[in-house]
Amino acid sequence: AFVVTENCIKCKYTDCVEVCPVDCFHEGPNFLVIDPEECIDCTLCEPECPAEAIFAEDDLPEDQAHFLELNEALSKAWPVIREQKDPPADAAEWDGKPGKLELLEQ
Ligand code: SF4
Ligand code: F3S
Repeated sequence: AFVVTENCIKCKYTDCVEVCPVDCFHEGPNFLVIDPEECIDCTLCEPECPAEAIFAEDDLPEDQAHFLELNEALSKAWPVIREQKDPPADAAEWDGKPGKLELLEQ
């Protein structure tokens, strides 16, 4: 499956949801996740993310490995998102900032 990683937190551009053919993105307050049981590995979402936050499971950077479990767990708790929406007003300021995991709202 594909995995949403840390740089999505507080950026949440949602370009990714528009291209997913199986609607497997789920939305939390300031982050999106992919349901690994629904993702068909079509690869379409990866290049759409302006924050470059989406990786194939096999290409996950080592320091993002924990996002695999996080996507699985949070996708069970959060509702599906199918349509793009406006990002947070300060999304650009958070793009690329380190240490965003502790700001994840659940
Ligand atoms: Fe959806 Fe395809 Fe991305 Fe999986 S790889 S989340 S199926 S767009
Ligand atoms: Fe997040 Fe990128 Fe989608 S910032 S909401 S994974 S387009």
